[in-house]
Amino acid sequence: MLGRVISVANSKGGVGKTTTTVSLAEAFAAEGYKTLVVDLDSQANASLLIYGENGDERLYDAIHNYTNVSDYLRENFLGECFAHMTKFIVPHASDVTFMGKPLDLSLVPATPGLRRAERELIYILTEQGYSMTAIEGRVGLRLRQDMSDLRKQYDVVICDCPPGISAMTEATLSASDLIIVPTIPDFMSTLGLDLFTGDIIDSLKKRGLSNRPVVLPTKFDGSPHQSIVLEAMRDGAADPDSEYDIFQTVIPQKSEFAANPVELGANPTLAQKWPGEALTTINMLYQEVQAKLAAQATDVAA
Ligand SMILES: Nc1ncnc2c1ncn2[C@@H]1O[C@H](COP(=O)(O)OP(=O)(O)OP(=O)(O)O)[C@@H](O)[C@H]1O
Ligand SMILES: [Mg+2]
Repeated sequence: MLGRVISVANSKGGVGKTTTTVSLAEAFAAEGYKTLVVDLDSQANASLLIYGENGDERLYDAIHNYTNVSDYLRENFLGECFAHMTKFIVPHASDVTFMGKPLDLSLVPATPGLRRAERELIYILTEQGYSMTAIEGRVGLRLRQDMSDLRKQYDVVICDCPPGISAMTEATLSASDLIIVPTIPDFMSTLGLDLFTGDIIDSLKKRGLSNRPVVLPTKFDGSPHQSIVLEAMRDGAADPDSEYDIFQTVIPQKSEFAANPVELGANPTLAQKWPGEALTTINMLYQEVQAKLAAQATDVAA
């Protein structure tokens, strides 16, 4: 059992966080690893991308059956009860087939109600005298406890974080072994990168953690401007004082990565969902992630 938690996060929107989360999770599941995706974004994009063609109905079921991350927050922090995250898992969530069989992927879905649940949480706990840091600390502690149990049940748990920065995101990052930061190598997207990775590092350091976030260049269009920025990002990562590491894999800007569940229809194969060079690139990323997790395991053992 690998038992590792990966978060995919960047305060910048539209950089490919959800695409990275879902494609990587599907790669792990295809390799036979027990995989769970936790969707922490009220846009529920990761949930819909995993569910596939009948995403709307399945999301409705998740709301109706209280199996979603909004109810996890409500039950644990707004009610008096203790409800472990396992209670909110939807098993066999993916409609993808691989080698003639359904891909076995579990999901804690997000719902649009998450935005409200998070607001209520902050409002109520602030009224009870909690500071923002204390709220993050409380949610983080709970998430770390739940993640440590989930590590025993799953090989990998991959968390799709929303854009912006929220108490839930901070808490999740503090519970993660590997933080992937998808970043478009262009001027605008890299402006906030140092700030974001610096913030992550500061918050992890406060909790005695020291893992550097790993930047994943995404939506690379091959233009001279992006090529220069990509090189600068690589140089930055090579600096011994750098607050981030960087993947060798680069995700190109290609329609093959923009999977559309409705167009795909029911039960696409993995290769239909990620056609052309997309699947090869995803597998390269998967190999690199495996290598980073293995290196961490060696560090821990040393
Ligand atoms: N490599 C790519 N090439 C082309 N389109 C892409 C690529 N990666 C993602 N997209 C498309 O770009 C849009 C944003 O991607 P995605 O939802 O993964 O980003 P995000 O960072 O999760 O966004 P948000 O911040 O809103 O959560 C989607 O329509 C997606 O299909
Ligand atoms: Mg997203």
